[in-house]
Amino acid sequence: MKNIVILISGRGSNMEAIVKACAAEAWPARIAAVVSNRPDAAGLAFAKAHGIATAVVDHKAFAERTDFDSALAAEVQAYQPDLIVLAGFMRILSSEFVRRFEGRIVNVHPSLLPSFTGLHTHRRAIAAGCKLAGVTVHFVTAELDHGPIIAQAIVPVLPDDTEATLSVRVLAREHVLYPRAVRWIVEDRLKRDGDIVTHTGGESQLFV
Ligand code: GAR
Repeated sequence: MKNIVILISGRGSNMEAIVKACAAEAWPARIAAVVSNRPDAAGLAFAKAHGIATAVVDHKAFAERTDFDSALAAEVQAYQPDLIVLAGFMRILSSEFVRRFEGRIVNVHPSLLPSFTGLHTHRRAIAAGCKLAGVTVHFVTAELDHGPIIAQAIVPVLPDDTEATLSVRVLAREHVLYPRAVRWIVEDRLKRDGDIVTHTGGESQLFV
């Protein structure tokens, strides 16, 4: 049974999708805790209602980023994580944090990485005239929104799309892609060779 710790900052809809898939598909894993850097994160209520341990490490309580990161690492470590799942966690993690949990942190990002790292991905994709947008699940490295790609789903950009309409369609794909990718990890289905991640059973890592 693998311990998953999920980090959130807000709504937590990806966290919800993972909690539900873990239970419905009887993964060999348990959601050990949901940890937020914001006390008002809406997703905490869902986790509590599902009997999952929750914790808050409020970044505003720390003057230095490194102190926040140390406190976060201690909180996360208390749940003995095999896997740390960033689900809309909007703080940049220090290289010390990433090194400590090397290879055990994954993230979902609402773009086709390596394009559009950072914020406002949909607005920027539309402004750039992209005809294709999407979502990426990747292992986390010290560089923001970078790291070996586990899976991607593509979403067409429609001529009348706005940031709001595109983000709704991408988010729906996130809710399918992220649980699938996390399940692969807890079931030890992935092989990593440098930056290249391959599904050992040959399942497609691209969702069209
Ligand atoms: C999601 O769209 C996720 O891809 C994005 O934040 C949203 C969180 O929604 N994450 C990032 O931009 C990370 N760089 P949620 O709280 O409902 O899961």
